[in-house]
Amino acid sequence: MTAREYHDRTTHSPASVRTSGHALEWDIKPFPFKVYTDLEAIALPRELDPLGVDTLSALAAPAPAAASLGLSQLTAVLYYAAGVTKKKTYPGGGEVLFRAAASTGALYQTEVYVAVGEGLGLEAGLYHFCPGDFALRRLRAGDVRAALAAAAADDALARRPATIVLTAIYWRNTWKYQARAYRHLFWDSGTMLANVLAVSDGLGQAPRVLTGFVDLELDRLLGLDPTREAPLELIALGPEAAAAPAGAALEPIEHATLPLSSSEVDYPLLREMHAASSLATTAAVGAWRQGAWRDATPPAGGELVALPPPRDRAGRGLGETIQRRGSTREFGHAPLTAEELATTLWAATRSFDGDAPGGLVDLYLIVNAVEGVASGAYFYRPATHALETLATGEFRNRSAYLCLEQPLAGDAAAVIYFLARLDLITRAFGDRGYRLANLEAGLAGGRAYLAAYAQGFGASGLTFYDGHVVEFFSPHAVGKDAIFVTALGRSGVRGRVTIKSNLTA
Ligand SMILES: Cc1cc2nc3c(=O)[nH]c(=O)nc-3n(C[C@H](O)[C@H](O)[C@H](O)COP(=O)(O)O)c2cc1C
Repeated sequence: MTAREYHDRTTHSPASVRTSGHALEWDIKPFPFKVYTDLEAIALPRELDPLGVDTLSALAAPAPAAASLGLSQLTAVLYYAAGVTKKKTYPGGGEVLFRAAASTGALYQTEVYVAVGEGLGLEAGLYHFCPGDFALRRLRAGDVRAALAAAAADDALARRPATIVLTAIYWRNTWKYQARAYRHLFWDSGTMLANVLAVSDGLGQAPRVLTGFVDLELDRLLGLDPTREAPLELIALGPEAAAAPAGAALEPIEHATLPLSSSEVDYPLLREMHAASSLATTAAVGAWRQGAWRDATPPAGGELVALPPPRDRAGRGLGETIQRRGSTREFGHAPLTAEELATTLWAATRSFDGDAPGGLVDLYLIVNAVEGVASGAYFYRPATHALETLATGEFRNRSAYLCLEQPLAGDAAAVIYFLARLDLITRAFGDRGYRLANLEAGLAGGRAYLAAYAQGFGASGLTFYDGHVVEFFSPHAVGKDAIFVTALGRSGVRGRVTIKSNLTA
């Protein structure tokens, strides 16, 4: 299995969607929380920091470095990344607990663990965060940061007061999305990462993202069943201090958890893709981090449309933005301003501190209704903050069609299509490059959500017909693959598009 094979075998096309035959089995829908049944729940403080820092300034640049990381800051990061922010009850009694970050199908397969040293207001140890009862449960007593640093081949982790580990439980997402779920693991941990970075930057906690680590070592450290759950990213937080001492070798742990459902279906393709993109030794992690990436974007061929400078303040605090965030379910046709779009594109493409390069994904757009920008197809050039015109014209129907025939993408004011040169990325970073591309797109999408809700309009992640997206943006996009989509606009219900005329396209 290679990333190329996995990607090609999990593409959506009109034919694959119509013939999939996959029906949702509601009686085995996975439970949305991981609950350790033999561990004491340690309640987190419920008096939360309201995070008044302006959302756009938190996205743009870190706040001045904090002198320490305490339990209230750590709690804020956990809540605003993964906490339950609203509850909806549906006719018939169904209930969904929505979370701070968007997640495909509201299935929430991303789990959060945190390794902490002494001095945080918690005993040193390895903890799991359960958003359901807003509590931590300690999986390992004692300082595990040296072991974590060894597994991630990064000594600095032993000096940071806390490191968050994001993982994903496959079955929570494969239940609906089958083998394509491997992509979703990175999109959804990416939207969560957008919140982790914005909140910890807003608190001056210097987040650093690690995507390279010895996968099986982390499985062992966290006590994960590697056939069912995988570590995805690490985020180190807080100012460096004395290094944690190297401890004795860690014993395996295997704590009991509530079953997710009465039976589960295995998707070997997903597991094979994960194995193909895993790193086996710290030497392999070190070598992997040397992967060189060069932006291969040719000079603009089409007419350039200069965008207004991004706003640096939204007037809405980060805590309130995250609390209000949701996925817009219906867009009206009211336009965005060019400044609103420009601010969102700029925020979505900020770099971050980490062991992987940014700039792996390209942003293509269909603009339907943006003041001062003609309707059409564009390529965003972050270096010059300009749109390169690919085609002008009315593409509402086409956009809806490309996004699995969902009207949302036709009604939106603008739709960002993330594409990447997967073949070049995997040449530079091996099959693990596939994780990077999907993660970066999810992170950019998550930041677009935050920038949109900060400015008072809406956003939604979307899925898509892979090949048709590339065709639509070609010849510019020849050689690229479609990775992810995010729609932007104002909510409303008037004048929805019809895509019937496009069904045979
Ligand atoms: C990666 C990703 C893909 C998504 N794809 C779709 C989609 O194709 N159609 C849709 O209506 N919503 C889509 N959504 C929105 C989710 O359904 C939504 O995030 C989830 O129901 C949680 O609701 P919330 O975002 O309002 O909190 C997507 C979200 C993400 C993060």
